[in-house]
Amino acid sequence: MILRKKLIAGNWKMNKTTADAAALIQELAGLIGKQTEVDVVVCPPFTAIESVARALEGSTLKLGAQNMHFESSGAFTGEVSAPMLRAFFATHVILGHSERRTFFGENDELINKKVLTALRNQLRPILCVGETLAEREAGATLKVVQAQTERCLEGVSKELAPSVVIAYEPVWAIGTGKVATTEQAQEVHAFIRGLLTKIFGEPAAQKVRILYGGSMKPANAPDLLAQKDIDGGLIGGASLEARSFVDLVNAASAAK
Ligand code: PGA
Repeated sequence: MILRKKLIAGNWKMNKTTADAAALIQELAGLIGKQTEVDVVVCPPFTAIESVARALEGSTLKLGAQNMHFESSGAFTGEVSAPMLRAFFATHVILGHSERRTFFGENDELINKKVLTALRNQLRPILCVGETLAEREAGATLKVVQAQTERCLEGVSKELAPSVVIAYEPVWAIGTGKVATTEQAQEVHAFIRGLLTKIFGEPAAQKVRILYGGSMKPANAPDLLAQKDIDGGLIGGASLEARSFVDLVNAASAAK
């Protein structure tokens, strides 16, 4: 029995106009829209959510967002809510990405509210955690990852825990071309699995997908995806072009 199906998620960040997004998703749907070996999620910018949602109809690809507010509606200029995303049949939402933490001041408390809201609305959070270069050099990696994981998951029930996806993204590896070694990544993934076991118990912890993110490319993916606790990838740069993203999905399929 496969306990954890591999998951490849594309984080398009602030890239692709509606027309560019439609072209990319059509290409992806044609190439991988029928495969069922790997869960594949694409996370376009909000402006392209509707056109991507339409293009995904009838395919196995899933739709995710890159962020959302924790309230359902109200006076929150510039924000988008969980029910708005659900209206497009989004299934996932990236929360606590390091770019949100760094450039938009998001902290663990806020991210925790978003995680709980996502789960209440049948959206699977892709919760990002990870250390900066300074924190790694100071030997604080596991301490930082532990604090982020525990605080962001506060109040999540054992029953809903398997719906959470965690993305370990060392901040120094995001968009830099510097990928964590397989040993560095597996060490943190195993540590996170241990933490989840303490919080939710073994059966639930074994079901949680823990993705690696940070300069994952077709060339380095097979080694990373072969690690025991690496259940997929959160892909930035390499998700913007169909060929490299498809190669990553194929690498995940081969690694299962
Ligand atoms: P990258 O981004 O693949 O471009 O490093 C990953 C991410 O930020 O999720």
